[in-house]
Formats: sequence, structure tokens, C-alpha cells
Amino acid sequence: MSKMKAITFDYNNMMADYVGKQEGITDKEITSLKEETANAFAMVENGRGKKMMGWTELPYNQDEVVADIIDTARDIKKKFDSFVVLGIGGSALGPMAAFQALCHLRHNELPKSKRKAPKFYVEDNVDPERMKSLLDIIDVKKTMFNVITKSGSTSETMSQYLIIMDLLKARLGNEAKNHVIATTSETKGNLIKIAKQEGLKTYYIPDGVGGRFSELCPVGLLPAAVLGIDIKSLLKGARAMDKLCRKADVRKNPALMAATLQYIAITRKNKNISVMMPYADSLKLMADWYAQLWGESLGKAMNLNGNKVFVGQTPVKALGVTDQHSQVQLYTEGPFDKVVTLIAVENYRDVVTISKGCEDIPDVSFLCGHTMNELITAEMNATEYALTKAERLNNRIVLPEVNAYYLGQLMTFFMMQTAFTGAYLNIDTFNQPGVEEGKNATYALLGRAGYEEKAAELNSRKEKSARYTI
Ligand code: PA5
Repeated sequence: MSKMKAITFDYNNMMADYVGKQEGITDKEITSLKEETANAFAMVENGRGKKMMGWTELPYNQDEVVADIIDTARDIKKKFDSFVVLGIGGSALGPMAAFQALCHLRHNELPKSKRKAPKFYVEDNVDPERMKSLLDIIDVKKTMFNVITKSGSTSETMSQYLIIMDLLKARLGNEAKNHVIATTSETKGNLIKIAKQEGLKTYYIPDGVGGRFSELCPVGLLPAAVLGIDIKSLLKGARAMDKLCRKADVRKNPALMAATLQYIAITRKNKNISVMMPYADSLKLMADWYAQLWGESLGKAMNLNGNKVFVGQTPVKALGVTDQHSQVQLYTEGPFDKVVTLIAVENYRDVVTISKGCEDIPDVSFLCGHTMNELITAEMNATEYALTKAERLNNRIVLPEVNAYYLGQLMTFFMMQTAFTGAYLNIDTFNQPGVEEGKNATYALLGRAGYEEKAAELNSRKEKSARYTI
């Protein structure tokens, strides 16, 4: 593996030279944004490590906690058969994406001797059937639960915690506390209080790290280490990409260029949709992680001057080649409202050759002797060609291979691109008032003290009419 390589961002097909003058972006347009680009860059650069931008420092300031996590993970691997994350949103999507990217694609189905790590589950919903089904397949006596919530008060996560702790206490008594690790804010919320009362091992989510920017802190690092992922390499990759993202020259800074192109696409080309389409099953959940990062960070009603702007770009998750047989028809012939990002992998971790057969049927036998690697790559190139021919803005991110180092680069690239795009749009990239509203309404509906006013507001909402229900 050539460790020093970087992932690349190929934006040829965003440009008028390739996709045509009608839709494409010109070099002149990029250059004309010189001042706005400098401002967006400065806003991110000057904000590093401050307020809700504590995440920029994670690749550099965690030596101590990383050592602790590696020790703890070693212990967990020895003692437990299953590792279950209880969390939602930013407290779940990163661990899921890293698991999918860096572990065997059928990890949980592998025999223990091959798996070399506990089975892994992330419970990011409160569907009762799902909870019941989990309890049907795990042995709680051999399971470590990692409850993750920055705020320490999210209803979904705390309800899961209550169910699990009750079960553990009933089955294991005083031992229950040795089956739960809390990852939460050191200073805020209820989970930290509970963790202290119960004597739980605890990892902290730094104050300046919001959920969707938290994969590179203990939120993501502990589950990853338990799974045998090289978390030092993940952080090393993050540092390598971060270095590129600190270049002020937009033509040398991949995340700044990616943000600049999306900013132009959003504000001048009416591209309201960002499709994320990795050509690798291992990166399928990266598209889910990206969807939260992009959607929750950029979908904002107000700008920083307090004006209503209602900006954002709707993220759509897709998978190559699967979605070629589902969504690509829409991408090539539907409305001109999308930017499609393809994620390519140069070297898949396996090579599978298509077997010989059907020699008398040339329309099938042409496949023989090719590898599936060649086929998936040809299909991606073909889709890129079709999109470009149809004058659809598209770009490509290339990973030399999927490993911890390049995943660290990829996640950092997206986080930086999001931060730069938010800066261009002059919004608060790091808050989520729309999510908070729903959380507060849930508290009110379930009678949490302190939410009486919200409950009254909800109770006074207009009643639904039978007239509009069939
Ligand atoms: O990005 C965010 O901040 C949110 O999506 C949160 O991650 C999500 O709401 C869960 O919050 P918490 O970690 O506080 O339970």
C-alpha cells in the first residue's frame, strides 16, 4: 500500500469544457469568486479549534485518549462476544460507516476465529421490534454496550439505555456496570451524571465537537478500535487531508475547491440535490454519514446576519452499480437539479474473476475472463460518461484503496468541504435548530418536566380533519 498517496478530487465534469456551457462551471466563475473564497477560507481557518470547531483539532490532540481506547478495546475483544452501540444521528452514523468500510462485509456472520472482534450492532432507532430482535440474538452476559450521546438527553438513546441497564441489572446485578461504557459530554447532560452514579467507564465528547463531526473522537474511535480498526492510521489520514485543506489556494485545496463548486452549483445553477454514489459496498454507509453531515449542516433557515435564507442542498444516497438500475435514469434524464459525486476505489481488497462458460452465447461469454473489479470500474466509467453526455454536473473522488488511512482522509475531506460551504453560505454550519425542535416536542409529548409550555403549544395545534383522511 502506498501510504503517502492522497485521495483525489476530480472535478473535470463540473466544468463547462466537459459538461457543456449551459450547465457547466467556468474557470472564470471560480476566479471571480476570489474574494468570497478568501473569506470562506479565512472563516474556517480562523475558527479552527474554537467554539463548535473543536473537531478540527481531533487528529492532533488525542494521544492520551487513543492509548486508553486501545487498551480498553483489547480488553473488550477478549471478554465480549458482541459490542452494541446505543446512539442516534451523529452518535451512530460514523461508527456504522467505519464498520462497513473497514471490516469484513459479512463481519457478524464470520466464525469467531476469523472475525477476531466482537459482533457489532448499532441501534439507532426506537422501533420496538428492532430492540426485541436484538435481545433475541445477543447474550447480554457476553455483550458490551456503548451508550453514546453528546447531549446526554436524547430520548431515543436514553430509552435504550434504560431498557438495557434494567436488563443487565436483573441478569448480572452489580456486574451490570462493567457491561456499559458511556461516551458523552463531560460537562453537560444527564448521561454524565448517570455514569458517575453507576460507576460506568466514560469517554468524553469534547465541547466543540458536534455529533456529525464526532467520528474522530471517542464516539467513533472506541467502536473502531474494538473492531480491530487501526485508529492511529485513521487519524494519520485525517492529518494528511487536513494539511491539504489548510492551503489558501483554491486550486491546491481539494475541499475548498469542492465547496466552491457546490456553492456555485447551489447559488447559480439551481442544483438543489447532492447525490453521493460510492462504487463500493464498503462505502455504502459513507453516503448515509455524508447525508447527515451535508443535510444537517447546510439546511438552515437563517444566515449569520439574522436574515431568512432557507438554504441547503438535499443529500441523496446511492450505490454504484446497484442504483444504475434504479435511480440513474432520473439522474441522466430528469430535472437538471443535481450534482452527482461518484466515489471510486482504485484497488478493491479482493479480485474476483468471472468464470468461463456459455461459450456459444457471445452476448454472455464476453464477460468471461474479466474480473468483477474491471466490470464495476467499467460501469462507473460508463455512468460518468452517460451523465456527462447528458450535461449533468458530476465529480469523482478516488480512493487508492479502502483502508483506515484513506477513510480518515475521506471523512476529513467531507467535513472540511461542509465547513467551507457553510462559510460561503454565511450560515451556522454547526447548529441544528430544526432537530432540536423535534427533540423538544418529543419531550413535551411524553411529559418531561420543564416542557409544559411546549406541551401547551402542541396541544393548541390545529386538529386534523377527517375530511382529508381517506
Ligand atoms: O449532529 C448532531 O448534533 C445530531 O444529529 C446529533 O448527533 C443527534 O441528534 C444525537 O444527539 P446526541 O448525541 O446528543 O444524542
